[in-house]
Amino acid sequence: MSNTHIQTIDISALNTSRIPYALHSDSFYEADEQRKIFEGKTWVFCGLEIEIPKQGDYKTTWIGSTPVIVLRDLSNNIQVLVNRCSHKGSLICYKAKGTVDSLHCPYHNWIYDLQGNLKKVAFAAGVRGKGGIPQDFNYAEHSLRSLKVATFSGLIFASFAETMPDIREYLGLGVQKHIERTVGRKMKILGTYKQTMHNNWKLYMENTRDSYHASLLHVFFTTFRLNRLDMEGGMAISENGWNSISYTESVDQFDDSVYDGNRSLKADVSLADPSMVKQFKEFEDNIVSSITSVFPNFILQQIGNSLAVRQLIPKGVNESELVWTLLGTEDDTDEEHLARLKQSNLVGPAGLVSLEDGIIGSFIQRGIQHPQAEDKAVIRMGGDEVASVKSRVTETAVRGFWKAYSSCMQD
Ligand code: FES
Ligand SMILES: [Fe+2]
Repeated sequence: MSNTHIQTIDISALNTSRIPYALHSDSFYEADEQRKIFEGKTWVFCGLEIEIPKQGDYKTTWIGSTPVIVLRDLSNNIQVLVNRCSHKGSLICYKAKGTVDSLHCPYHNWIYDLQGNLKKVAFAAGVRGKGGIPQDFNYAEHSLRSLKVATFSGLIFASFAETMPDIREYLGLGVQKHIERTVGRKMKILGTYKQTMHNNWKLYMENTRDSYHASLLHVFFTTFRLNRLDMEGGMAISENGWNSISYTESVDQFDDSVYDGNRSLKADVSLADPSMVKQFKEFEDNIVSSITSVFPNFILQQIGNSLAVRQLIPKGVNESELVWTLLGTEDDTDEEHLARLKQSNLVGPAGLVSLEDGIIGSFIQRGIQHPQAEDKAVIRMGGDEVASVKSRVTETAVRGFWKAYSSCMQD
């Protein structure tokens, strides 16, 4: 697919209820998004503390299109370093994860400590008095770029910005409390996988905030009474409008008539093995399903007892990568562990939910190539505001995403 630039959108005049399709299909905006969003004043999610439990443990990942190393240094502090050698720019760590006591560039073997300080230049003094680096070479000027790091409830966020608000303030009180309630315990990793999304990264972040689609696209949810619009629930939006929680509460009685005339209820279908969706009571509140979406790239999932974090990584204008980490707790009984695994089957790329979200993203991407300037999405469900509401028949959180986007892109 080619992405010919057709227009320049005035981001300062962006109407969050009418988003030009070109923002998803025109590669013109990519570099700006990297500089102003992923390298701008945002906290970008890049992993979990339990992925790097011991000193020297590292993982490699991306902040937008910048490769980074997320590691636990020898003083037990978490560091996020740009994975780019100061010599010629080679990746330093090229494996997904590992354990090291220093960082060695594969090209000319420059060596850095785990804070990113350059410690050794191979053949710095030359050989037999010839060659080597000049006297005025200052090691301190050639450290790896080190990002600001914030951890919260075991989640690791990083930022390129010099000054950032505290992560709690950035998340907002409601989101902060909901994250703590969901994963602020001794968690363990049940599994990980990656999913290639054939759509612009912003379409997926919109999807995670789009409570309107959940029970319409995902017929499974409705049919097996996991998430329906006749259940109580709503959208909680952070103070600044950037972050959101879509939540569903359990009900005693279902009202199938809500879905009369819609295609999404298949009342005559039942599961051969109902244990696939059997949930155990985990939280004090009645929330049985919630999706928390933090700008720009973090998602926390609670679908029944299936808990997961998702990290979204843009891969060019037409593609993104979704990294899933499924979670349980250290205290889970064997039955609870099994229930989480069974329920997680519904969600991942081999299940139903993500398969459907994946294909719908690609349907949009295919539908919006080469738009005209006036071709825009309609994001008016529930009005035009960005505000918390006790309803999920709303696109308020999608508008919140665009509020954050336009705020960053104008900086
Ligand atoms: S590129 Fe890293 S040592 Fe040369
Ligand atoms: Fe979905």
